[in-house]
Amino acid sequence: MDFITANLPPAPARVLDAGCGDGRLADRLRAVGYTVTAIDVDPARARPGVLVADICGFRDPEDEPYDAVVCSLSLHHVEDLSCALDSLAGLLARGGRLIVDEFAHEQAGGAIADRYFGAAGSLPLWRDKHRSFHTGDAMVEAVARRFSIASLARVPYLYRYLEDASLREAESVLGLQFVADRRQEPS
Ligand SMILES: C[S@@+](CC[C@H](N)C(=O)[O-])C[C@H]1O[C@@H](n2cnc3c(N)ncnc32)[C@H](O)[C@@H]1O
Repeated sequence: MDFITANLPPAPARVLDAGCGDGRLADRLRAVGYTVTAIDVDPARARPGVLVADICGFRDPEDEPYDAVVCSLSLHHVEDLSCALDSLAGLLARGGRLIVDEFAHEQAGGAIADRYFGAAGSLPLWRDKHRSFHTGDAMVEAVARRFSIASLARVPYLYRYLEDASLREAESVLGLQFVADRRQEPS
């Protein structure tokens, strides 16, 4: 949340939370004055304040551009990364900002995975089960093709779930946080 709020334009700005999950982030942003459209492709996520929609091909109901798009842990899940990013680029105002809070699973080592899952040999099993997840490198490359990347940081990630600060160093590059600006002119 801190990374996202630190990089948003000031409220009230129009924000799209793309792949919003339970919509908690959208609620928190609304509470501090943002105008947020929150979408998720999973019908189980439907509730007031969350629209069921695919990022790929999404059209804003009011046909107004967004000042910022937030993708929190959603991009690695999308089926068609190119289609999703083309959509997001088209939804942003010129100079609008894409804020991505992600994780780069290709950076994970066996030891950290075993610690996270509490069992030896976890990483190959996890990779096999999540073959469709996009890598951090693939996401950065796909974003860089359409946007100008303004900042990119490799940060710890798993400790948030294990609430174990001692993990931070061991997995210090698993998280990936980047900010990218929509180009002023089509490239
Ligand atoms: C790991 S959850 C993250 C949820 C939330 N953003 C968060 O940070 O907790 C990924 C979400 O992305 C959604 N998602 C995946 N592909 C999507 C797509 N093409 N369009 C919209 N949402 C998508 C999933 O349904 C899921 O709710």
